[in-house]
Amino acid sequence: MNHLLSLRGVRKTYPAPRDSGLGRRSAPAERRVVLDGIDLDVDRHRCVVLVGASGSGKSTLLRVVNLLDEVDDGEILLDGEDVADPRLDANAVRARMGMVFQAYNLFPHMRVLDNVALAPRLVHRRPAAEAEDAAVEMLRRVGLAHKVTAYPDQLSGGEQQRAAIARALVNGPELLLLDEVTSALDPELVGEVLDLLAELRAEGRTMLVATHEMGFARRVADEVCFLHDGRVHERGTPQQVLDTPERDRTREFLRRLTS
Ligand SMILES: Nc1ncnc2c1ncn2[C@@H]1O[C@H](COP(=O)(O)OP(=O)(O)OP(=O)(O)O)[C@@H](O)[C@H]1O
Ligand SMILES: [Mg+2]
Repeated sequence: MNHLLSLRGVRKTYPAPRDSGLGRRSAPAERRVVLDGIDLDVDRHRCVVLVGASGSGKSTLLRVVNLLDEVDDGEILLDGEDVADPRLDANAVRARMGMVFQAYNLFPHMRVLDNVALAPRLVHRRPAAEAEDAAVEMLRRVGLAHKVTAYPDQLSGGEQQRAAIARALVNGPELLLLDEVTSALDPELVGEVLDLLAELRAEGRTMLVATHEMGFARRVADEVCFLHDGRVHERGTPQQVLDTPERDRTREFLRRLTS
């Protein structure tokens, strides 16, 4: 069993927001449990899609995998190695993954080309010319060859998001982590980004994706995981989870989405 990514009993809490204090003035510091024992595997060349209500922990899960946040308990194994092992260099672990966020986070003062060429230069210490070649190639790949010298604010939202995806891809990551990459886009721009992701899926990229787009989940997911109460409440093929869910909570979630 050689999963590219494995989560075992992953638990993550945050400090609970302070309550009014009525009647519990000396309560010990409470923690809000966001992930409460997540078990999840992503095999190579597979696409696992996380769905769930707002606040169910999808972004938190992607963030702990990318070492942007620490888990309280449990294990995250990348290719069998514990990513939190202090003997490993966190940046080296992170360099094996490419992450794209909801708001694309391009650097506004840098040309698209430089945004994409930055990681090859800084993280992989490739010579500038080589990094630029790789960036141009990747921008061509996402259909932005003509925007190489543009600045982010000269691009549409969909183009900016495709540039952010190019940036995540340029170092040849083993695992792509995508967090709601279309939710900040105008509806008419969503399609172009989802089409690109479907192509990446068809190329056999390994992806872990959080989305509210059930149509997209249906199209690209090998496995859909419905997060609820800090756990993977139901999982299966898109057809199983989205068309014939077995659990009440999943049905309720889907019903709310469509109403
Ligand atoms: N840094 C933080 N400090 C405290 N609480 C946090 C922090 N980050 C997230 N949370 C809380 O953790 C819970 C899960 O948040 P998360 O962003 O993972 O949800 P989500 O499933 O991605 O939601 P959405 O669909 O709205 O993006 C929420 O209740 C959120 O308020
Ligand atoms: Mg989120």
